[in-house]
Amino acid sequence: MSQWMIYGATGYTGTLVAEEAVRRGHKPLLAGRSAAKLRPLAERLGLEYAAVGLEDTHALEKAVGTVELVYHAAGPFIHTSAPMLKACLAAGAHYLDITGEVPVYQHAFSLDAAAREKGIAIIPGVGFDVIPSDSLIKYVADQLPDATHLDVAVDALALSEGADAGLSAGTVKSMIELLPTIGTLQRRNGQLVSQPMGAGLRKVRFPRGTKTVMPATWGDVEMGYHTAGIPNMNVYLSLPPAIMYTARVLSPLLNLLKINPVRKFASRMVERMLPGPSEHTRETGRSAVYASVRNAKGETREAWLETLEGYQFTMVAGVRVVEKVLDGSYKGALSPANAFGADFVMSIEGTTRWDTLPE
Ligand SMILES: NC(=O)c1ccc[n+]([C@@H]2O[C@H](COP(=O)([O-])OP(=O)(O)OC[C@H]3O[C@@H](n4cnc5c(N)ncnc54)[C@H](OP(=O)(O)O)[C@@H]3O)[C@@H](O)[C@H]2O)c1
Repeated sequence: MSQWMIYGATGYTGTLVAEEAVRRGHKPLLAGRSAAKLRPLAERLGLEYAAVGLEDTHALEKAVGTVELVYHAAGPFIHTSAPMLKACLAAGAHYLDITGEVPVYQHAFSLDAAAREKGIAIIPGVGFDVIPSDSLIKYVADQLPDATHLDVAVDALALSEGADAGLSAGTVKSMIELLPTIGTLQRRNGQLVSQPMGAGLRKVRFPRGTKTVMPATWGDVEMGYHTAGIPNMNVYLSLPPAIMYTARVLSPLLNLLKINPVRKFASRMVERMLPGPSEHTRETGRSAVYASVRNAKGETREAWLETLEGYQFTMVAGVRVVEKVLDGSYKGALSPANAFGADFVMSIEGTTRWDTLPE
């Protein structure tokens, strides 16, 4: 019998994690809603599978009850996380996911007491969004415990020659679901505030050069608050210049995505057009993070990190996190950095961290 389950195993990312798990000697149960999609994957990897829909509460709890841990990879998580969290709490199985969606983090953290009582861990965001940035936030925040302001900038763009589309359909579909309703979230005096898209562009020095970045909703704006409790936070993403410089003008168009049929049509288009990054892009791409904190006296600390391309990172780190949780005694709702520490990210091959960048 399998010790853990990958739910959403047939998706772009779930399949990568399943393949990595097998390479590391695991035999996870592959799960999802479609037997027709699960069967060929299970046969190829020599694993067992379980087809169960998230709306079938009884069958889901029964399937989850056969494992110690669920690695949830089926998104958009705004639609999939709550039923799986409920099943994990009922069955007493640890819950991990790879969401970067702020409302999903908020719901997961609201279940902290229930998870402690049940003796399970709930650790959302164990992918590229947010392990590297969450770890770097903890790294700089631990050096300045009275910090009042935090800036974090993520450069997730593949930096390789001949790189193809850097995003999977699932990632873009998750953005389509959330962006129109939550907009650009930043944190002021402990509260989340929405600001106009495309405002506040700035330049940030990354290990491979300086880039323009744009304030954007990224999981850290919520997760970083659980990790470091710093009341003011700016979260930036490096995006293609064509997006950043037109975002202000084009952002009203996002309102169209609030209309159900338009959103569904856009999601279908995305499914057809985005197969996800190729193996070449994943293996040669890189991503980078910058974080800085300052306190009321004006003292600062900053650091940089470079690591694997985002989906490669999610694949590699995902299985390491599963191993840690199965071997450990984690309880309650935790951020990745508070669960595994600021240095866990350094155990992922290809990761380098700097306190000062060489000139
Ligand atoms: N944290 C990170 O850095 C990170 C990295 C990669 C991905 N992600 C997130 O992970 C999610 C999946 O990404 P992906 O690239 O793997 O997408 P994908 O290729 O579109 O796969 C999505 C998977 O979720 C399943 N699914 C979707 N809605 C479901 C529902 N209501 N009930 C049951 N299963 C459902 C799909 O099943 P069907 O095939 O049956 O539709 C499929 O197996 C996205 O939300 C993405 O943003 C995060």
